[in-house]
Amino acid sequence: MWWRNAVFYEIYVRSFADSDGDGLGDLAGIRSRLGYLRDLGVDAIWLTPFYPSPDADHGYDVVDHTGVDPRFGTLADFDALLADAHTLGLRVLVDLVPNHTSEEHARFRNALSDPDHPDRRRYLFRPGRDGGPPNGWTSAFGGSAWQLDPRSGEYYLHLFAPEQPDLDWHNETVQRDFEQVLRFWLDRGVDGFRIDVAQGLFKDQSLAEMEEPDPPTWHADWVTAVNQPELHPLYRRWRRLADGYEDDRIFVGEIVLENQERVADYVRADELQLAFNLALLWDEWDAAAMRATIDRSHTAMTAVGAVPTWVLENHDVPRAATRYGGGAEGRRRARAAALLLLALPGGVFLYQGQELGLEEVELPDELRQDPLFFHSGGARKGRDGCRVPIPWTTTRPGFGFTPSEPWLPMPEEFGPRSVGAQTEDPASTLELHRSALAHRPTGAFEWLDGPSGTVVFRRSDVVCVVNVDAPALELPSGDLLVASESVADGLPPATAAWVRTR
Ligand code: NOJ
Repeated sequence: MWWRNAVFYEIYVRSFADSDGDGLGDLAGIRSRLGYLRDLGVDAIWLTPFYPSPDADHGYDVVDHTGVDPRFGTLADFDALLADAHTLGLRVLVDLVPNHTSEEHARFRNALSDPDHPDRRRYLFRPGRDGGPPNGWTSAFGGSAWQLDPRSGEYYLHLFAPEQPDLDWHNETVQRDFEQVLRFWLDRGVDGFRIDVAQGLFKDQSLAEMEEPDPPTWHADWVTAVNQPELHPLYRRWRRLADGYEDDRIFVGEIVLENQERVADYVRADELQLAFNLALLWDEWDAAAMRATIDRSHTAMTAVGAVPTWVLENHDVPRAATRYGGGAEGRRRARAAALLLLALPGGVFLYQGQELGLEEVELPDELRQDPLFFHSGGARKGRDGCRVPIPWTTTRPGFGFTPSEPWLPMPEEFGPRSVGAQTEDPASTLELHRSALAHRPTGAFEWLDGPSGTVVFRRSDVVCVVNVDAPALELPSGDLLVASESVADGLPPATAAWVRTR
């Protein structure tokens, strides 16, 4: 049960480390930096998709679920990375993308080529209605979720970009295909999977309209068309399959539902082990909101015997320091939030560069690559700003990420934020993370009372105090383990500390 308390580190493959000088990160680059991750103190890494892909959605449009895109390396590179990670004591999760394929997947090509081709039934083609699409479902990237196939006059469903046709999970052939994909990676020795769009695989077959939040929230929260009961027996089968392997292989579901009780349904004892909990990420810098979110997630997960997980950043959302206001104040809040995150019970997911305190990068529109930007006609800026490669050194232009030009430009301030510049600087955000990971408390969780504007709880003998926006507080007496700022005069606002009290 290594995963119940694990810290996972998300590697956005194209932006972590480039070994061959093409400006794009790759598997050999990751392999060369595994020592950094071991020393940082994380338990596991999650690799975003490195499969062959035409990149309509940066790898989440997969052409071959058991291959490696030559830009990222080869299967031999993957095996070498996995072996080295295991030698260093790091577990490895790969990203499973079962909701859709690339439009360039051979099976979708077959599906388009002939309406009677058996592969057509692997996807969701439906006749239109009143001269338009079959219903009003919208894509997460904007516009209708249906694309006309002019040859047949039918439409196919894509909850994301039109280049990402959705698979029909009611077709048992699709289910069998993915069992083979799971076995392929489990046989190679991976420790588990992050499941993309995990609440979305089965769609409401009646095609009833979705009840989406109005006005829409910035995160997609489809509830009525997806989140179908058929998912639970599917995940139970996957769990049995993974349990047939040694060493506790796991599934982490990307279940993007606000309702934590519904998320908990997916992590019952015989289903997925973990589900991302993105709720904390949606909270403002507000102690009452954060405490309520933590309480609700913790209660919902423990009610089914599962553990919660905590996420403040990933490759789909603006960096935490920027969300918390940006600049020096945003970075300070993000440091305090790091101590909150790493003291909470359950699993934690860190996103590469979060440990460096990176902020969202402002990119000119002509450099943007995210389909969200294009499909929304530029109204939504998209996710490129958190996907800029991370800096290892102070050397321009690639800051040690690449010897050449990085695939997205890295701003000047990445120099002082680089791993090299922060290492051994006790005041740096990187050293704060190293120290927090070294002292991470794991004992029983209990809320403690604190003044308004604070979040205070105990993990056995360690008290975690987060002063969100209250006047300076006195720290509990005991041994100070870690603090996000100087606490010589008490705990100022936007500061957190861990104190061993007995
Ligand atoms: C969630 C992934 O994190 C995101 O990057 C992607 O665009 C969608 N799923 C579609 O695969």
